[in-house]
Amino acid sequence: MSHFPALRLRRGRQSAWMRDLLAEHRLHPSDLVWPLFVVDGDKEEQPIGTLPGVSRWSIDLLVERAREAHDAGIKLVALFPNTPADRRSDDGKEALNADNLVCRAIAAIKDAVPDIGVMADVALDPYTSHGHDGLLADDGSVDNDRTVAILAQQAIVQARAGADIVAPSDMMDGRIGAIREVLEENGHTNTAIMAYSAKYASAFYGPFREAVGSGDRLKGDKRGYQMDFRNSAEALREIEQDLDEGADFVMVKPGLAYLDIIARARDAFEAPIFAYSTSGEYAMFEAAAATGAGERDAMIMETLLAFKRAGCTGILTYHALEIARKLA
Ligand code: PBG
Repeated sequence: MSHFPALRLRRGRQSAWMRDLLAEHRLHPSDLVWPLFVVDGDKEEQPIGTLPGVSRWSIDLLVERAREAHDAGIKLVALFPNTPADRRSDDGKEALNADNLVCRAIAAIKDAVPDIGVMADVALDPYTSHGHDGLLADDGSVDNDRTVAILAQQAIVQARAGADIVAPSDMMDGRIGAIREVLEENGHTNTAIMAYSAKYASAFYGPFREAVGSGDRLKGDKRGYQMDFRNSAEALREIEQDLDEGADFVMVKPGLAYLDIIARARDAFEAPIFAYSTSGEYAMFEAAAATGAGERDAMIMETLLAFKRAGCTGILTYHALEIARKLA
């Protein structure tokens, strides 16, 4: 028996350069996707109470944010509209208006900053008076197939406006196939689909709903279509189905409490996987930092790196711009 440890893993931790040399995972600005909220108006910035540091921007200012993101090395922004109240309805038909807020925002960014990717959410919740992601049936549930037909039209409208990626976040069955088909039929062969495949009914979406104005309107909850957080094998079935139907990339959402799902998906599939570090997660970091519970930036960096370690291709985070600038 030797009297020294044969394996001294501390040898690799002895200096900063050694640790950097041996790092297995790294975070890069291009790993970060920045969600942005858009509102009608001119030179309008509306801070969001439950998301300190995040605002809704009118299109003119949104374009400046997109330019900053591009300059910081971010490759993709995800847009979410706060639809004016008088344009919300039971059937969410404003989603199909080619001149709606998000379509104008997409076009403005693609015009001013053509080299940044723009992603648009496919779901009806920013447009419905009841805050659900689809059309309601008589019994109050969301009608799957009628909703899918509208979502396919919504995706076309967004693709026409210039969206590079459409991101169905609605969790209806069969929507990826339906959207892929209409995109192809309408010549949008290059419009990619990022499927919110494993999207859980979560308590971590609250501030987002304030931001898009759907929270106070929401009747009931979304457990009839978003996943039950007690399930994990089901997430793999959702991902497999979406890939089979033509999704280019898939997403797991929320992020932090679902690293097991990301890791399992990474083992099971070769496709790019994104995580959405949601509004509620962002709010947790800000609240913890405000009490002095930890070093804010270090907590955020550690968590973002954990997404990479779990196997993510990229991470949607409201901290994206700030962190991208720090990484530069
Ligand atoms: C809507 C949508 C939601 C989020 C992204 N798209 C909320 C919801 O499903 O109620 C949540 C994002 C976040 O909390 O940051 N389809």
